[in-house]
Amino acid sequence: MSNPVIVAIDGPSGTGKSSTSKAVAARLGLSYLDTGAQYRAMTWWMLSNGVDVGDSAAVATAAEKPVIISGTDPSGPTITVDGADASGPIRTQEVTGAVSAVSAVPEVRTRLVELQRSAASGAAAGIVVEGRDIGTTVLPDATLKVFLTASPEARAARRGGELTAAGNGAVDLAATQAALVRRDAADSGRKTSPLAKAEDAVEVDTSDLTLDQVIDRIVALIGEKRDAS
Ligand code: DC
Repeated sequence: MSNPVIVAIDGPSGTGKSSTSKAVAARLGLSYLDTGAQYRAMTWWMLSNGVDVGDSAAVATAAEKPVIISGTDPSGPTITVDGADASGPIRTQEVTGAVSAVSAVPEVRTRLVELQRSAASGAAAGIVVEGRDIGTTVLPDATLKVFLTASPEARAARRGGELTAAGNGAVDLAATQAALVRRDAADSGRKTSPLAKAEDAVEVDTSDLTLDQVIDRIVALIGEKRDAS
């Protein structure tokens, strides 16, 4: 049997990471892990349990408490916190506004990186893992590392489309773009494993590509890596 394929897909919000990662995993019969959902789940738990997310010492102390379980089937990924379905609540504006502060706390990262590595080592055929620090920190020996980028305009348009599809009504694109840029600055500027491109990652600018073109490109890159190994 061939070795499991480990694919790390990093990049800022709105570059198409989730749609791309799920589709690549489905096409190749691999598992799929959305690590952003885990940081969101941790944040939701903090907010629901009265932890002040601006108090990093309080967040650090609480970080070991929530039981976060991710289902890794790319056709229906799931996430539960203490047994409750968290897939809806983790996408609220309240969680989105607090997640950068929670994910900057080292104890939160240590806890979630452990979960992420254990999901990767348990995936028999392999896994596509999406996030911000997967290629640099979580899975530095990944078979393939991809860093997705896109212009701020293209990213805001995508995120606006997602918000509208989720029932948020008409979306202010300028405000969406400003919020994305702010969150990325926080994620790139934090001390512990910031959003960063690994030296050996392949950068793919998705601004002018369709989703299918990005998927084809990554599937081709995985094929090249497999042939070379
Ligand atoms: O991918 P997303 O927008 O759902 O991620 C939510 C937040 O989680 C993002 O603002 C930064 C954080 N995150 C992180 O710090 N490290 C990861 N590997 C994934 C996400």
